[in-house]
Amino acid sequence: MNKILEKEHFSEKVVRLVVEAPSIARSRRAGHFVIVRSGDHGERIPLTIADADTDRGTITLVVQAIGESTSKICALEPGEYLTDVVGPLGQATHISKVGTVVCCGGGVGVAPLLPIIKAMKAAGNRVVTVLAARTRELVILEEQVAEYSDEIIIMTDDGSYGKQGLVTDGVEEVINREKVDMVVTIGPAVMMKFVALLTKKYDVPTMCSLNTIMVDGTGMCGACRVTVDGKTRFVCIDGPEFDAHKVDFDEMMMRLRSYN
Ligand code: FES
Repeated sequence: MNKILEKEHFSEKVVRLVVEAPSIARSRRAGHFVIVRSGDHGERIPLTIADADTDRGTITLVVQAIGESTSKICALEPGEYLTDVVGPLGQATHISKVGTVVCCGGGVGVAPLLPIIKAMKAAGNRVVTVLAARTRELVILEEQVAEYSDEIIIMTDDGSYGKQGLVTDGVEEVINREKVDMVVTIGPAVMMKFVALLTKKYDVPTMCSLNTIMVDGTGMCGACRVTVDGKTRFVCIDGPEFDAHKVDFDEMMMRLRSYN
């Protein structure tokens, strides 16, 4: 059982939870995720660790209420417990000094992007972050992202905040004005697909973090399988990060739809 210590609403359906998990807080690195359950028969929900505090022994998770299980998790209040938190899982992000890194996130994808932004900055990179959302209300973690970014560009579909346009418009603007050495993209599969198509055109290495359905999180059930560079890979043990230019996003989206 893992106690919830803090809760903050980013929007009606997106909450930030600070959860007691001392051993995970100690061993996690950027890119790692956990699988959480609320209730003994709750679905197993994979969530990237957005932040951790080793002194307090806590991890921070950002959860979007989409179905029954995520709604149940979002309804938990400080003092209540998650039934279990398993992790850290997956491969940590490979962080190095490459020069200028454009980190782009859409919707709740900004939460898993935050630890990567922090780590890329700490490694000495120039970090330009592009945050995208449908409307102003759905832009999350702007302050935290701004703290570790050299520049932040906000794009909204309806132009209610920042510039009007898609995440790809923001990324292309940066690529057209300066040398970009790497792009990191996290968000809905369709968004990552189009970021990958754009950066391929400009030949900029691009890393994505995939958000497939997961069940066991240990490479045994096959639920998270994706095709990368023509080979079957498991997001839970081989990922969640992959070369975005090699991911078969169409197949991934088809599999996600079949689960729906
Ligand atoms: Fe089962 Fe990855 S979640 S193989």
